[in-house]
Amino acid sequence: MGTYLVTGGAGFIGTNFVRHLLDHTEHRVIVLDALTYAGNKASLEGLPADRVSLVVGNVCDADLVDRLVADSDVVVHFAAESHNDNSLNDPSPFIQTNLVGTFTLLQAVRKHDKRYHHISTDEVYGDLELDDPERFHETTPYNPSSPYSSSKAGSDLLVRAWVRSFGVRATISNCSNNYGPFQHVEKFIPRQVTNLIDGVRPKLYGAGQNVRDWIHVDDHNAAVLRIIESGRLGETYLIGADGEKNNKDVIELILQLMGQPADAYDHVNDRPGHDMRYAIDSTKLRTELGWQPRFRDFEAGLAATIDWYRANEAWWRPMKEATEAKYARTGQ
Ligand code: NAD
Ligand code: TYD
Repeated sequence: MGTYLVTGGAGFIGTNFVRHLLDHTEHRVIVLDALTYAGNKASLEGLPADRVSLVVGNVCDADLVDRLVADSDVVVHFAAESHNDNSLNDPSPFIQTNLVGTFTLLQAVRKHDKRYHHISTDEVYGDLELDDPERFHETTPYNPSSPYSSSKAGSDLLVRAWVRSFGVRATISNCSNNYGPFQHVEKFIPRQVTNLIDGVRPKLYGAGQNVRDWIHVDDHNAAVLRIIESGRLGETYLIGADGEKNNKDVIELILQLMGQPADAYDHVNDRPGHDMRYAIDSTKLRTELGWQPRFRDFEAGLAATIDWYRANEAWWRPMKEATEAKYARTGQ
């Protein structure tokens, strides 16, 4: 039994990871989270106080990070500015949190010789053409498109350099698009689901042919724990569940599951520089570490996620109006 420091543990994937640790291990958890617009204390409510504590603070605060890392055995770094559209409107917090925050953690894990796992995205590889038979794999060259994905790419490269130059004991995972409970309503699936609950038509960027490779958040987190426990130090593992779908099909499925006509959505302004397609080849993770996705039925996972948003309006309602006001400014 040890202590995990989970940065960004009040965000979407982080809070699900904390729950995964509680359910599958005996470890104690310290969450370090700045509770930005994306962090929500309510996402940690009801968790056992003898195993989980929340420290409200910034991953760029070197003194605080140094103290928390010294008190931990494993550091899992989820905290980030995570939304592409926000990064197009104002890149500066992305540079600060994603680059300087990762640097700050790396210096602390280096000093205290702690095991570090870095959470990243497939978006560092740029995008693929719709008809390209290729998928992303661990040796695909980095080619990020947006301020978000470039800041994540830079943070991955910092980790690789700290491994090679300073012998930091680290692994990196790059995962595709997650869905599931506790995701902020700015993101594609929860935005459409909560719009429909409010009687508002879903919003599709451009023609909606863009493909994302969907994975349930619990499958992502099971893979992360597997990599921490059994992965080879210094290695990168891609996490994906063969879930490629275009945005139009996902909107139509949400409409169908929520009892609406399949064409009851609006086309809105496209995202500048919008990546066309992401697709993950997770052979390395599956063959080396024996990981397999459990949520293979996207429609069933989506239906359960819709039920979660229906049942947890008190969780998402406070962030809905401000999120839609932001989108209204860019015609989205
Ligand atoms: P999120 O935006 O829901 O949560 C981010 C959390 O980090 C929030 O709780 C926020 O308060 C916290 N945070 C932000 N800046 C901070 C700072 N300076 N100091 C401390 N805490 C800070 O994001 P998410 O979707 O849960 O993503 C988590 C991680 O997973 C990110 O690193 C992201 O790049 C990566 N990722 C996300 C996806 C996805 O589909 N959402 C896919 C692959 C990888
Ligand atoms: P998003 O959830 O922002 O994730 P990412 O940009 O990391 O892939 O968006 C997923 C896809 O959905 C992306 O192609 C943009 C598109 N999208 C819409 O069509 N409408 C929306 O309202 C949003 C938020 C996204």
